[in-house]
Parts: sequence; C-alpha cells; structure tokens
Amino acid sequence: MEEFHKVRRLPPYVFEQVNRLKASARAGGADIIDLGMGNPDLPTPKAIVDKLCEVVQDPRTHRYSSSKGIPGLRRAQAAYYARRFGVKLNPDTQVVATLGSKEGFANMAQAITAPGDVILCPNPTYPIHAFGFLMAGGVIRSMSVEPDESFFPPLERAVKHSIPKPLALIINYPSNPTAHVASLDFYKDVIAFAKKHELIVLSDLAYSEIYFDEKAPPPSVLEVPGAIDVCVEFTSMSKTFSMPGWRMGFAVGNERLIAALTRVKSYLDYGAFTPIQVAATHALNGDGTDIAEVRNVYRRRRDVMVDTFGKAGFEVPPPAATMFAWAKIPEKFRHLGSLEFSKLLVEKADVAVAPGIGFGEQGDDYVRLALVENEHRIRQAARSIKKFLSTADETLHNVISLNAHR
Ligand SMILES: Cc1ncc(COP(=O)(O)O)c(C=O)c1O
Repeated sequence: MEEFHKVRRLPPYVFEQVNRLKASARAGGADIIDLGMGNPDLPTPKAIVDKLCEVVQDPRTHRYSSSKGIPGLRRAQAAYYARRFGVKLNPDTQVVATLGSKEGFANMAQAITAPGDVILCPNPTYPIHAFGFLMAGGVIRSMSVEPDESFFPPLERAVKHSIPKPLALIINYPSNPTAHVASLDFYKDVIAFAKKHELIVLSDLAYSEIYFDEKAPPPSVLEVPGAIDVCVEFTSMSKTFSMPGWRMGFAVGNERLIAALTRVKSYLDYGAFTPIQVAATHALNGDGTDIAEVRNVYRRRRDVMVDTFGKAGFEVPPPAATMFAWAKIPEKFRHLGSLEFSKLLVEKADVAVAPGIGFGEQGDDYVRLALVENEHRIRQAARSIKKFLSTADETLHNVISLNAHR
C-alpha cells in the first residue's frame, strides 16, 4: 500500500537509528553515556514544582485551560522581554503561549503556508524548522548558518531565483546544532533585508538563556527597531528552567502572525494544563538565580568536555552558547559520514552522539554532543573515546577500511 502523502515527506528520523543501537547495547548490559538527544537532565527548580503541586489541588484548575495562555502567563512573558531585551510587547495581541516552542513553530507553519510556498531555512538546523513547513506543504531552500557577511549573498540569490518568491526566512541563534550566536548588527541587516524583500522572519530563540559569556547574552531580533513589522520569535521554558517535559513555550511579535497562530491553535488545543501555566508564570516572574545556576552547570560541563575530549584526540570547539558542542568528525573517520561514525561510537566506545546528518546534509562532517551528562560521565566518555581512537587501526581494520582513506 502506498505511503500517505504527508508521511512520505517525513523520512525516518535519523536519530532513531542511533537510538535503536543504543537501546540494544543497553539491553545487552552496556553502560552507554548518552550525549545524543538535547534532553535536559537537570531537575526543574523546586519552587516551580511546588507551585504546580499547590495549584493542582484546586479543582477549578482541572477544567480546560486557555489555548492562547492565561493572561498572567502572557503578561509574565511580556515582562521578561521588557526586562531582558528592552522590547515592549502587548500581552493581549503580541504574545501567545505554545505547548513548547516546537509545537508553536509547527503550527505557525500550518497557519501561514500555502502549498508550494518557499521557505528559507538554515542547514544544518533543528529538524522542525524544515519539517514543520514540509508538513504544511511548503518547499525548503537551504541557507547557510554563519551569522556574518557570508550569510547574505546566498540569501540574495534565493530571493532573486526562487519561484514563487520566498515567504519566510527562518533564523535560529544561538543555533542548534552549530552553537553560532548572532549579534544585534547581524539582526539589523536581516531585518533590513526582510523588509526590502517582504519576507516574514521567524526566529527561534530557544537558547536565550543558555550562554557562557556573562557579558554578552544573546540578543533578540525584536530589539531591532521595526522588527515587529515582519517578525515572530519563539522562546522555550524547556532549557531555561529545565522544564522540557512540561511543554511550555511562547511566540511573540507581529500581531498579524500571532493572530494567525492563535487562531490555528484555538482549533487544535485547549492550552497547557492550568497548573503548568501558573507554575510557568511563577518561573518567569522569578529572580533569575535558578537560570544562572543552570548556565553554570552547562558551562562547567562544556569546559570538561572541551578539555578531556581534546586530550583524547577528538577536538571539540568550545560553544559560546546552547547545551551542545558541534564537533568535526576526526579526519580518519570523516569519510564514513556522521551516521556510521555515530553508530561506531555506540558500538565501540559506549558513547551516543547525534549524527550531524540528522540536522541536514550540510551537517554530515559533524556530530553534536549534548551536555546532558554530568562531569564525571563526560570524563568517562572521553576516556572511552581515547581508547577507541587509539586502537581503531588495530581493531577496526576488518570492520571498515580506515587505511585506504588516510
Ligand atoms: C532550536 C530549538 N528550538 C526548539 C526546541 C524545542 O523546544 P521545546 O521543548 O520548547 O519545544 C529545541 C529543543 O531541542 C531546540 O533546540
């Protein structure tokens, strides 16, 4: 029987192949160190959990909630933008709560895309940026990720040669998976370009608070004067407050786009469970100490990873933000491609990573290492990788032909 039209547009998740290997290795007793999925391992701060427990006792909170977010939650998100970015938002018309930023992004795609619309999307990138639009009938044209002057010539060409003219440009800084961080000057150029060519800009700022240079927190594209005319930005509670399972995020910005997303969502969901929305409000209105602690944990893990992996012969450039390192596959193994290399790491080094190809074809020389294991486990992973790399020539010659590719 033929595959359904939409399902045909969704290739099997690349990460699934590594996950399957990981599960079978674990079933066989292996202690796999999992640097694969970006699933935060830190507990949600106690005050947020306590608030949830308190509110859930009230039966009135057990009814359907508000799809666009309860007013206090939207006000708290507007206050966060004012405090953190100096951006003034109307919580009634320019803020909508989403069931995580992933859901928000996918439903924004549903709301604005007509079949065949062209979307300019970074490559490599977090998969929903492309697949949200592919599911909505859009067509993807890949853009580069580096937030510098090299970004614009391909963008110019795309606008000039795409038919129909592109509808939207997706940006994601700090970037998953590459950890690039954009400057406000870069954003100014993006907005000027978008206005000139009547492009919608969708910015994914999921890592707004996971940065390591205290003097340079990542800006919001909405800080650019007039950005709100063309732009919506997505943020997430998942990483900032270690709340990935709670499913809470936001879209903020242009009223027409926010209204379109709000309308689609009103047909699809009743919003997050009210106690979750109240606890999220409490989190956003907090004093920021929990966020600083989360940053410190990731920073220490990053430093341990860069140091120990480097000494093990696997160079890992230090990311300036996000909870990921984006590392080039050691030369000797690069010809294998990222999926085969990732499988080898599970099988021979008991370490799981995310193959770069899972983020797009431009990612195939890389793997992504998530900082979701503690420092001790990261050191253990480095020791294991060191052994794997130093014995590969002897142990792998009949598995893969390494010598031929030197
Ligand atoms: C860039 C980016 N956007 C969005 C998400 C999804 O976040 P949420 O849990 O809010 O759906 C992730 C999660 O890894 C991400 O890396």
